[in-house]
Amino acid sequence: MNGGAPSRGIALRRLETRASARLSIEQAIGPAVQPLWQRLGNGPLPLAELEAEFEDTLPQLYAFVQRLWANCGLALGWPAGDPELEIEPAVAGEVLKLGVGMPTDRWKVSRFAQLHVDDSGGTLLETPRIPVITRILKPRVAAVLVALAVPRTAAEMLAELRWRSTSKELLEMLALLWSAGVITRCDAEGLSEEDAQPELLQWEPHDLAFHMRSRQGRHSYPMGASFRFRGRIDPHPAVKPNPWRERAIALPKFDLAAIAARDPPFTSVLEFRRSIRAMDFSRPISLAQIAEFLFRTARVRHRFYTEIGEFTSRPYPNGGASYEFELYLTINACAGLERGFYYYDPEGHTLSLVRRPNEDTEALLDDAWVSSARQCRPQVLITIASRFHRVSWKYSGMAYAAQLKNAGVLYQTFYLVATAMNLAGCGLGLGDAARFARLTEISNFEEGSVGEFMLGTPA
Ligand SMILES: Cc1cc2nc3c(=O)[nH]c(=O)nc-3n(C[C@H](O)[C@H](O)[C@H](O)COP(=O)(O)O)c2cc1C
Repeated sequence: MNGGAPSRGIALRRLETRASARLSIEQAIGPAVQPLWQRLGNGPLPLAELEAEFEDTLPQLYAFVQRLWANCGLALGWPAGDPELEIEPAVAGEVLKLGVGMPTDRWKVSRFAQLHVDDSGGTLLETPRIPVITRILKPRVAAVLVALAVPRTAAEMLAELRWRSTSKELLEMLALLWSAGVITRCDAEGLSEEDAQPELLQWEPHDLAFHMRSRQGRHSYPMGASFRFRGRIDPHPAVKPNPWRERAIALPKFDLAAIAARDPPFTSVLEFRRSIRAMDFSRPISLAQIAEFLFRTARVRHRFYTEIGEFTSRPYPNGGASYEFELYLTINACAGLERGFYYYDPEGHTLSLVRRPNEDTEALLDDAWVSSARQCRPQVLITIASRFHRVSWKYSGMAYAAQLKNAGVLYQTFYLVATAMNLAGCGLGLGDAARFARLTEISNFEEGSVGEFMLGTPA
């Protein structure tokens, strides 16, 4: 906590927590701090004044502060009286690590910090590193953050901002920002303390934010099936109406019993499956093979209805049974089908030409060649696209994470069926969503490519 001379800088404000948390606070606090708990109910109190008052029993005061913090019962504001910023815990069970700044310390905005506004118009800073929310209440705080785009000491910052505050006051503010993880200390070379830790250095901000926000435990945002758009927006249909229906080519259907009789055993498919990047262009994949592959991996088996709407059954599992994926095939070499960009209608079991070969179809194939370490410009490139709102209409907090998991399931289904059919298959990790949007003329925000798979005859 704050050492040295008392300061009026930081204030404690009691947060009205859930009844259960309030009860646990009330049961846990000792008689010495009971009156303080009551006083906090009347309004914020400066920490420095409390430190002076509890001079002989500071450990009790600090234990009380920790208990409130751990139960989401406390916000800290700066400065006391008319706060310019406040920090508060986002989840229960956290320890408050209040930063103690030195005049020689150099600070910088954390590369993980994110600014956004909440539904009530408040400006928030958050970081996936620490489950604490920082509320920016006055523009001066934003000025500090701008100044801290590069490492600075408190004195350098005061000069830059032309503030009349003292370094000590500014250090108290920085202590709060540091406690919330939105600024970090830097060494003389400008290396931030978070980047000195290999476990943090190897995270990119968007990945860490995505990871923490799509799992539970480190934030308090809604998660799971919330159906937050029910009654406001119609859900996307279980089966996409084929926009290119008039160009549909009917594909043969297959007798699954006959396929099962000639398929290699499951364990040999699983064990002999490999990513195969060498394809034989002297005998390209046939339209019948493509039809069988799509029939076995991705067709709609049937529709069914439940109280929460219409669903489909398909050969691969899918979280929430949303079946958000659509498949598009860039045909490079196929016996029986012209080159071009095609849409697979999984219910009609048809392929529709979306685009004749153009710059974008060729670039998709070139991208696949680069992704496969320049080993394969595939006979067929399957682009997995997601109708995002099939999932986000239903799920909060985890909608995109669920789609990427589902894409992994489809990759493995593709691999297994390709192996069983003695075809060359290989998943790809990179694809170009802009090219996909140009080819389909569908908004990036409605349906977008999330994965690619190469298919052909093995060399
Ligand atoms: C999601 C996913 C993405 C992949 N991305 C690529 C890729 O971009 N380029 C590539 O050559 N292989 C890619 N692969 C294939 C892996 O490199 C391959 O599965 C791994 O090396 C193991 O080899 P195996 O599949 O032959 O067992 C990907 C596989 C998966 C499942």
